[in-house]
Formats: sequence, structure tokens, C-alpha cells
Amino acid sequence: MKRILVTGSVGQIGSELTMALRKRYGNDNVVAGGRKTAPSPELRDSGPFEVCDCVDIDVVRRVVKKHEVGTIYHLAAILSAVAEAKPNLAWDVNINGLYNVLEIARENNCAVFVPSSIGAFGPTTPLDNTPQDTIQRPNTMYGVTKVAGELLCDYYYKRFDVDCRGVRYPGIISNVTLPGGGTTDYAVEIYYEAIKNKKYTCNLKAGTFLDMMYMPDAIKGAIDLMEAEPAKLKHLNAFNVTAMSFDPEMIAAEIKKHIPEFTMDYKVDPVKQGIADSWPNNMDDSAAREEWGWSPEYDLPRMTEDMIAVLSEKLK
Ligand code: NAD
Ligand code: SER
Repeated sequence: MKRILVTGSVGQIGSELTMALRKRYGNDNVVAGGRKTAPSPELRDSGPFEVCDCVDIDVVRRVVKKHEVGTIYHLAAILSAVAEAKPNLAWDVNINGLYNVLEIARENNCAVFVPSSIGAFGPTTPLDNTPQDTIQRPNTMYGVTKVAGELLCDYYYKRFDVDCRGVRYPGIISNVTLPGGGTTDYAVEIYYEAIKNKKYTCNLKAGTFLDMMYMPDAIKGAIDLMEAEPAKLKHLNAFNVTAMSFDPEMIAAEIKKHIPEFTMDYKVDPVKQGIADSWPNNMDDSAAREEWGWSPEYDLPRMTEDMIAVLSEKLK
């Protein structure tokens, strides 16, 4: 089989998706691409690893040709909070990096998976039951790059027939690699702090509802979409997907069921709060459900039980 390349494989999603892809398609068939951060020994030693800065098109071309890559899971990106602090870097990685990957995909006839985000929506988008096809006028650099990325993927499909698929991920919650500087990171940190210190200071206000998803569902969604029958896909790219929606009070209450001493207070970060306020409260993901069978397994109680069990062991 032609091989798979995962860019940004050392990040929160990439570190787990790469291992899941290796398990499914064979270790030697999945190339982990990373940049500055050192990969975990598991990621580095279980299959091929290449330094692959997606901003350098020659590097991406060399890696794709060397390993005869047929599919690229393009996860290299700058997330929302870091993008507000470093907008030039976010533009360079999220736009120029994506452009390079699409160009190399065109040259080498590769399929591509590109995650968009709840960040592709903005304050004028309907915030409740946010439709698949709706107003997208984000007011963050992350959002600007995500909308442009969705459009670029559509263009490469229409113009050059590049099989370019993707989802709009909500906040992803996981227990292997810490998140890379997003607005939804609190929903991961809260579990670590609850187990380590039995308390947490939340940087978003009570009542801030956001879509979220547990990592096993995020990984399953990416693989299922890439394996879906093309004829069934009306949208192809930028599918709304969600598994749950909650605010800080709800996740804290769920944690308290397992750790009764747990307490939470608030110190609001105005930048993150502004970003979160511009994002949906909950998305309508019926297009993904209808077109390729999206159906998440984890809700807030089931995820919390698993997060606490796994992290209690990990942080012993
Ligand atoms: P992350 O920040 O954890 O990982 C991204 C990785 O990309 C990092 O390892 C970083 O070193 C790498 N990177 C940065 N610049 C690079 C470059 N020039 N070349 C190659 N690699 C580079 O991010 P993540 O959470 O794993 O996100 C993966 C994708 O999913 C991104 O497109 C992100 O926007 C999207 N997404 C993530 C979430 C989430 O909650 N994690 C939600 C919605 C969408
Ligand atoms: N979790 C991501 C972020 O907050 C959403 O795209 O940036």
C-alpha cells in the first residue's frame, strides 16, 4: 500500500492518531512528521519518523516522495490562543503550510485530511445548533486561517481533483499529550489539576458553553471519514462534528462525582474568553451523521470516568 504521512504528529491529536493509524495499517506504512518538539520514544521507535516543516515545500516534497506517500493527515497548525499572540506565525503555518501540503498532494496524487475547527465560526454565526452551512465571519487569526483553509481545500478538490476531506473539530480532550495552546485547553487541564491538587482555577467564565469531544472519537472520526465511500459525501470537507457541549460548571460538577473534595474558582483570561464567546455553543452535526455515519461514543459522564481512571494511574 501507499504510505500515510502525519504532519504535526507530535501534537495533541497527532501523537494518538499516528499510533492508531499504525495499528490499523501497519507500523511501517505510517510516517510521523514532526518539527521541533521531540517525539515520544513510542512514536519515534514504532515506525518511520521524519523532520517535516510544512512551511518548507521542498521538505514536504522530499518526505512524500521518499516514502511513496498516498495520504497525508495534515495536523501541523498553530492553535487559537497562540495564534492571537503570534498572528504572523499562525498565518505562515496554517495558510502557507496548508498550501504547500495541497500542492504536494496535487503533484503526487495524494488524498488529504485537514482538520478545521469550531474556530471557523464567528460572532455573527448562529451560536445554537450551528448549521453545517452558515455565516462564517470569525474575528480571530486562527478562525481566518481555518475558513481560508476550508475554502482552499474545496478549491483543490474542484480545480485539481485532490481528495481533500476534513472535519470541524470541537475542543479535544485527551490524556496522552497536552494541548498546544488553544481556548478549550481548560477542559483538559481541569482533569490534571483535579487529580494532582483537587482544585482548579478556570480561565473561562461559568456559562461559557462550547462543543467538546474525547480523543477516541476524534481519531475514529478522522479515519472513518477518510475511509468513507466518496459517492456518499455531499460535503467532503469541513464537516461539523461534536460529541458534547458543556460549560465549566458542568465539567466541574461531573469531576466532583468522582473527587468530592474538588473545588474550582475563576480567573478569566480576557483573550480566551473573547475567543470562546465568538464560537458556537453547540453545533448541528447531522450532515456528518447522514453522509458518513458519524456517531460519537463518549458523553461527559463516560469521558470523565475514563479521564480520571487513566490520569490517576499516569500521575501516581
Ligand atoms: P497541537 O498544537 O497539539 O499540534 C500541532 C503540531 O504542529 C505541534 O506538534 C507543532 O510542533 C507542529 N507544528 C507547528 N508548526 C509546524 C510546522 N511549520 N511544520 C510542521 N509542524 C508544525 O495541535 P492539535 O491539537 O494536535 O491540532 C491538530 C489539528 O487539529 C490542527 O489543525 C488544529 O487546528 C485542529 N484542531 C484541534 C483541536 C483541539 O482541540 N486539539 C480542535 C479543533 C481543531
Ligand atoms: N481546541 C482548539 C482551540 O481552542 C479549537 O480549534 O484552539
